[in-house]
Amino acid sequence: MAPRTVSVVNMKGGVGKSTTVACIAESLAADAGLRVLVIDLDPQSNVSMMLSGLDRWGDLRENGQTIDTYFNQYVYGGEPKFFHELIGRSVSDITSAPNLDMLISTPEFRYIEREALAKWVRQGFDIEGLKRKLGGLTNAAIESVGDSYDLVLFDCPPGISMFAEAAIEMSEFILIPTIPDFVSRLGIFAFRKRAVRAMEQRRFTEDRIWTLITKFEQANALHESEAALLRDQFNVFDVQVPQSEEIARAAQWSDQPRSIDQKYGQSAQVIRLLAGEFTERVGLV
Ligand SMILES: Nc1ncnc2c1ncn2[C@@H]1O[C@H](COP(=O)(O)OP(=O)(O)OP(=O)(O)O)[C@@H](O)[C@H]1O
Ligand SMILES: [Mg+2]
Repeated sequence: MAPRTVSVVNMKGGVGKSTTVACIAESLAADAGLRVLVIDLDPQSNVSMMLSGLDRWGDLRENGQTIDTYFNQYVYGGEPKFFHELIGRSVSDITSAPNLDMLISTPEFRYIEREALAKWVRQGFDIEGLKRKLGGLTNAAIESVGDSYDLVLFDCPPGISMFAEAAIEMSEFILIPTIPDFVSRLGIFAFRKRAVRAMEQRRFTEDRIWTLITKFEQANALHESEAALLRDQFNVFDVQVPQSEEIARAAQWSDQPRSIDQKYGQSAQVIRLLAGEFTERVGLV
């Protein structure tokens, strides 16, 4: 069976996209035993470093097992690489998550987008054609490993990127993490239109586009009222992720393998609830 595909995306930066990807991926791999592939589409490489740690990330990078390599072959040519050979296996520091794999990104990834645009525009592709081409390459990659995974999660960069556009156009679901504040809520209105269009192209309905409240501060009256407005206006996860030092600390990889509870402390419970709601929404229960 083909894996579920989900893009975690928001044009706004720093809203918890990469953290959400890491938490969901680890909990589903460790607690639910699902086979999860994380694909990092962000040259900042945050989720790559969070999930695989700096040493392993460096090794994978040196070995050319990167998203750059996958797209490089289509932009610059050269020796063909199979997508499955580029995947880093069992990346997490969570003991019971051997089935969590990832395709890392590197800071150089941003040059590939520029080169791809320059080359394919010279060849006569327009923007829609470019997106289709990148989407097609991403689709082909997922199809080539489809049987090996239950879930593929794309961590998208902030701002606008052709790769993020391609990912949302090929994903079955779109998850938009957001902080409950005024400017973040305004940002969702604008971005959501883009997401709706991506869904409509495949005759999917809007109920595949979800918002997740992140970094929620309990004693913050603005967060309270903005969260309520988000719930009125969008399809919002019941679970909201609190602002938590433990979640921020968990971003740092540990040389000592650990359990979900050791890694996330008291916040492990909310991460399990988030992963549980996520599995129901994507239909993986
Ligand atoms: N629930 C949380 N509680 C505390 N800190 C958090 C939480 N979620 C994320 N953070 C912290 O906030 C910062 C931004 O989070 P993250 O990198 O996940 O956001 P992002 O949306 O992926 O950012 P970017 O747009 O740069 O890719 C990081 O330092 C992260 O550790
Ligand atoms: Mg990020």
